[in-house]
Amino acid sequence: MEAFMEGYHVMKTHPQLQRTVPILYNSRYGMDTGGIGAAVDPSLSVAENIFAQYQHLELLSKGMAGMVHEKELAIAGQLLDMPLPDDPAQAVQAWYHSLQAQITKQLRAAGEDVPDLNAVCESHPLNAVEFLFPNYFLLPFFTSMSSYRIRPLGPESCLFEIWSLTQHPKGKEPAPVMNPTKLPYDSSDFPMIPRQDYSNIPLQQKGLHSQGFEFMRLAKSIEGLISNYQRLIDGYIKRLPAERLAKATHKLGGNFDGAIEDLGL
Ligand SMILES: [Fe+2]
Repeated sequence: MEAFMEGYHVMKTHPQLQRTVPILYNSRYGMDTGGIGAAVDPSLSVAENIFAQYQHLELLSKGMAGMVHEKELAIAGQLLDMPLPDDPAQAVQAWYHSLQAQITKQLRAAGEDVPDLNAVCESHPLNAVEFLFPNYFLLPFFTSMSSYRIRPLGPESCLFEIWSLTQHPKGKEPAPVMNPTKLPYDSSDFPMIPRQDYSNIPLQQKGLHSQGFEFMRLAKSIEGLISNYQRLIDGYIKRLPAERLAKATHKLGGNFDGAIEDLGL
């Protein structure tokens, strides 16, 4: 689970994502190839910046088999040549604003009960990943999302569910999925992004068991959720008062890529 509690690993585990919009990841995580700064590349033209954003959406859509649904990607594809401000940063912002407005409009016209995405971004801003203690993750994008639910089978293995969620026109919902598709962690049937994530985990697990491993140091401002989550579990194991645990649990909301927090435990 901890491998999914930060985006810090994206640059090495999912290099195809960083390659498409390096400046976006550098603006969030710093160093490697540019340092913390603007999220849009001023050295690229407006058209090049927009195309890079589109390619990034496409990689997320294909790489997760969802999250950005292909119907949303198709709408993004309609807007590649739209008129935009000359300043790349303003252009990218305006493009996303139009894209969200179009997704809202077109999917509503198709009968989907989707929210006004631009309004909801203001009223209920979300992180790229929202962790719900103790074992659930939502990765919201436009009107679709991925979700993970993880259940332990023992200290060395777990069931890791991935769902691709989306909206459907009223009355045209598909039948609920009743049987899971079970795959081994290294199955080539997983889409690319989880395949990349899972490939790391057995190696990390080995490292954690190695005799030379004394302690782990986390990036204090980006990997805080891992520490916060572990300390909250410790609080449950110690049977601390429910009120204190509830307060600490609330602090984990929005803590993805967040800092190590004093949980008052
Ligand atoms: Fe990942």
